[in-house]
Amino acid sequence: MKFTLEKKDSQSKARAGTITLGHGPIQTPIFMPVGTVASVKGVHQKELREEINPDIILGNTYHLYLRPGTQILEQAGGLHKFMGWDRNILTDSGGYQVYSLSANRKIKEEGVKFKSHIDGSYHFFSPERAMEIQRSIGADIIMAFDECTPYPCEYNYAKRSMHMTHRWLDRCIKHLKEVPEMYGYEQTLFPIVQGSTYTDLRQQSAEYIANAGALGNAIGGLSVGEPAEEMYAMTDVVCAILPEDKPRYLMGVGTPINILENIALGVDMFDCVMPTRNARNGMLFTSEGTINIKNKKWENDFSPLDDLGVTFVDREYSKAYLRHLFAANEYLGKQIATIHNLGFYLWLVRTAREKIIEGTFTDWKNKMVKQMDKRL
Ligand code: GUN
Repeated sequence: MKFTLEKKDSQSKARAGTITLGHGPIQTPIFMPVGTVASVKGVHQKELREEINPDIILGNTYHLYLRPGTQILEQAGGLHKFMGWDRNILTDSGGYQVYSLSANRKIKEEGVKFKSHIDGSYHFFSPERAMEIQRSIGADIIMAFDECTPYPCEYNYAKRSMHMTHRWLDRCIKHLKEVPEMYGYEQTLFPIVQGSTYTDLRQQSAEYIANAGALGNAIGGLSVGEPAEEMYAMTDVVCAILPEDKPRYLMGVGTPINILENIALGVDMFDCVMPTRNARNGMLFTSEGTINIKNKKWENDFSPLDDLGVTFVDREYSKAYLRHLFAANEYLGKQIATIHNLGFYLWLVRTAREKIIEGTFTDWKNKMVKQMDKRL
C-alpha cells in the first residue's frame, strides 16, 4: 500500500491524498459504504459502481465468518470474487460487532468467547483467529482485533482495555506474518487507537499505535454515544500524534456534519451504517438538511428528490413518489433512498477533496455544516 499526500489545507488540518492498493487507487478523504454481509444493503453492485462510485467498501469479519463462513469464501476465491466487486474492500476485525451484536460474550486476555446472534452457537475470536479469518476473506485493508469500549467508560476499565488492545495488536502483527496471503495481492493491517474519552489514554494509545509503524492507522471507540465535541477533542489529540504520511481512518463515523468536522481535524477515511440504515427508515441526507420522507408534507410535492443530487434517483423520482413507496412499504422505496444517501455521502467527501485542493475547504465546510443542520 502506498499513500501520497497531495495537499494540506492552510486553515485547518484537512488533507487530500491518494491510497494505492491491489484493487486500484482511493482518493481521500473517502467514505466507505458498509457492506456487512457481502452486500451493501439495498444497492446492486452495478448501481454502486456506476452511480455511487466508491473506490472502496467495507465488509465485516464477524458476519462473514458466521455466514457464509470462511470455507465458502475460500472456495469462491475470496470476497471480491464471491460478491462480484473488483475494487478495494476493507474488513473490520470483529472487535466491534462481537461487543455490539452477540450475547453472553466473555472477554479475556486470550480472546473473546461469544454467542452467535444468528443461531446461538458459541465461537471464539482471538487476535490470531481474526487475522486468519481476514486472510480467508481477502480484503485489501484488514483491521487489528481490539476492544471497543462503551460510553461512558470508567477510567480504570478504559486503561486496562487499551493496554490489552495494544498487546492484541502485537499478536496480530506477529501472527499475520505467519499466515500467508491467499489470493496474490497485498493485505494491509491497520492498528486501532482506543482510550475512550480520556485525553491521556488517547495520547498513550496514539503513541503506541504510531510506533507500530503500520502503513495506515485507525481511531476506534468513538461515536459510541459521547457528545460530538468530545469526539472531536479525541480525534484532534490522536491526529496530532499519528504520523502525517499515513492515512487515518475514523471508524463508525458518522453524520455528514461529523464527517466534515473530522476531515478538518485530519481524518482521511470514514465508514458508517447511517446513510444506508437511515435510508431504510425514510431519512434522506441532503446538502440543505435532512428530510423525513414519510412526513405528510411531501404527499403532493412533485419536485425532484434532490435538485442538487448526483444520482439518477435524485432527478428521476419526486418526493411525493418516494413518500408513497414508503407508505406502501415497497422495497423500491428503501432502494431509492439508499442510492440517494450513499450518492450524497460520496459527493460530500469528493467535494471536500476538491475544496481542499482548491484551498477553499474551511469556508465551504462552515457553510455546509450550518446548512446540513436543518430539518426540512
Ligand atoms: N467500528 C466502530 N468503532 C470501532 C472500534 O472501536 N473498533 C472496531 N474494530 N470497529 C469499530
